Amino acid sequence: MNDALPFDGDDPADVGPTGRRMPELPEPPVLTGHGPARVVAMCNQKGGVGKTTTTINLGAALAEYGRRVLLVDFDPQGSLSVGLGLNPHEMDATVYNLLMEPDCTVDEVIVPTGVDGMDLVPSNIDLSAAEVQLVGEVAREQTLARVLAPAMATYDVILIDCQPSLGLLTINALTASDGVLVPLECEYFALRGVALLKTTIDKVKQRLNPKLHVDGVLGTMYDGRTLHSREVMERLVQAWGDTVFHTVIRRTVKFSDSTVAGEPITSYASSSTGAESYRQLAREVISRWHDA
Ligand SMILES: Nc1ncnc2c1ncn2[C@@H]1O[C@H](COP(=O)(O)OP(=O)(O)O)[C@@H](O)[C@H]1O
Ligand SMILES: [Mg+2]
Repeated sequence: MNDALPFDGDDPADVGPTGRRMPELPEPPVLTGHGPARVVAMCNQKGGVGKTTTTINLGAALAEYGRRVLLVDFDPQGSLSVGLGLNPHEMDATVYNLLMEPDCTVDEVIVPTGVDGMDLVPSNIDLSAAEVQLVGEVAREQTLARVLAPAMATYDVILIDCQPSLGLLTINALTASDGVLVPLECEYFALRGVALLKTTIDKVKQRLNPKLHVDGVLGTMYDGRTLHSREVMERLVQAWGDTVFHTVIRRTVKFSDSTVAGEPITSYASSSTGAESYRQLAREVISRWHDA
């Protein structure tokens, strides 16, 4: 397979994989200082759609562009933490301690990753208890926003990797966020359930977090050789219009290989199409945040 990105916006006649003309996505401006962070929840109640992969690789690409990035593993499965090389049984403190222990501060749970400028709040199975324990708390939906607040000044971007559900943990993530990014597998059935996700986002916006904005819908596991992938993309654009990112992430085994290696694809296979696609996504999200 050709490793060059076929849709890079250089040619004005380029029609991208979403059927629209590919805009130019300029190099992001160099930052002169850091913070306050833009908080973005990676959200889709379906599992296996690329939430964790997008969190790791978009985070690493943003860090390459000089952004200070904090990743928050907010799934009791801890795939984000494992994908960055952590052992779930050897964590001193996790996001669970941060949520449930009044004396625990975010600084105490942050760990560095192998990527310069990118840190992690890890998670493991302990977090599954928080969903139940939070129910009895005052302002239970605001808990994550409250405990992350002290990190806002240090980072430019905080990415929250949600679990595949629309339960209280995900509501906490949406309440803590400025934006939501929805990864969607380019499969027909992926379109089911998106209406429910949209309703949930709208409810959180109305009742808990008026600033919440859908930053974009990201087509993942795209295979341009199949009519099927292209049709799903077409329907996505019909339903969500310009909310759909011009960038799509193609299906490639390099993603699972890099997970096994415990590092982002941007370092594991730095010049691969997958790495380039996430760099392109980083440029696209930065330009959207700029315009927002
Ligand atoms: N673009 C892609 N091409 C091929 N495999 C992918 C791609 N994105 C993710 N995967 C793989 O699919 C599986 C599910 O992805 P993951 O990011 O963990 O989804 P989620 O967090 O939504 O459950 C993982 O094994 C991952 O390596
Ligand atoms: Mg995941």
